[in-house]
Amino acid sequence: MKIFLDGQFYDKQDAKISVFDHGLLYGDGVFEGIRFYNGRVFRLEEHIDRLYDSAKAICLTIPMTPAEMTEALLETIRINELKDGYVRLVVTRGVGDLGLNPLLCPKASVFIIAAKITLYPEEMYKNGLTVVTCATRRIPHGALSPMVKSLNYLNNVLAKIEAQQAGAGEGLMLNEQGYVAECTGDNIFTIKNGQVYTPPISAGALAGVTREAMFHIAAQLGVTISEPNMTRYDIYTADECFLTGTAAEVIPVTKLDTRVIGTGKPGPLTLQFIEKFHELTANSGTAIY
Ligand SMILES: Cc1ncc(COP(=O)(O)O)c(C=O)c1O
Repeated sequence: MKIFLDGQFYDKQDAKISVFDHGLLYGDGVFEGIRFYNGRVFRLEEHIDRLYDSAKAICLTIPMTPAEMTEALLETIRINELKDGYVRLVVTRGVGDLGLNPLLCPKASVFIIAAKITLYPEEMYKNGLTVVTCATRRIPHGALSPMVKSLNYLNNVLAKIEAQQAGAGEGLMLNEQGYVAECTGDNIFTIKNGQVYTPPISAGALAGVTREAMFHIAAQLGVTISEPNMTRYDIYTADECFLTGTAAEVIPVTKLDTRVIGTGKPGPLTLQFIEKFHELTANSGTAIY
């Protein structure tokens, strides 16, 4: 495996970052997770845009233009001769001293890993995922915008631990007001009486690239997606529920906090979203080769 690090490719064992890098010392940096299917990168421009927006929001200057970043990402996939897989693109604040002052980090570091990812076993895509609500709340906008895809994922990691301890596949995160925000690494959707719902970004969700693709698919299916503030009650009483994320793709949810959702099986509209999503990933994207 070859890894891109600050303009050069290294073997896996040689791709190293300093222990003084503030990405490691403070979680100071931003990242993206991006999938590619059959030789094409899905929604590449959207991921690159989000990366630069996240960096801007935390006053992090990425030492490459978006065009250079795009080319480096494509070259990382090419050099590893992959057609299908997952890219992790990380920008750290770079090397500084032991204080947290980012102004003492003269240059950000960029690394890109192209590999594979499997988040859930196949049977969960067929039978649905069990989700529990986590006590850990989503970070409020006033602390750190949940829109920033930062290296500081401890909030989500703690919620994921809770979900795992409860034997669930994912953890539902509420915001400080008790409204549904998202799951630890995925956005959430429900379907009730043929209407599709997802919490607004302002409720504390990441503006997921896969979430956005659902709006495109909904238009194809002739259904509308509304974005009201949602509570757990709305999920307990939904006919169908599914999660979206680059790594998870589109996965049905059949249980929340021991309440069976709908019939307890992946619902018919959910299955249509999944089918259309696979069509979209197979037929669109930036050509790698
Ligand atoms: C907290 C969080 N929410 C939602 C998502 C889904 O976003 P996307 O579809 O862009 O991968 C992710 C994954 O990137 C995430 O980390």
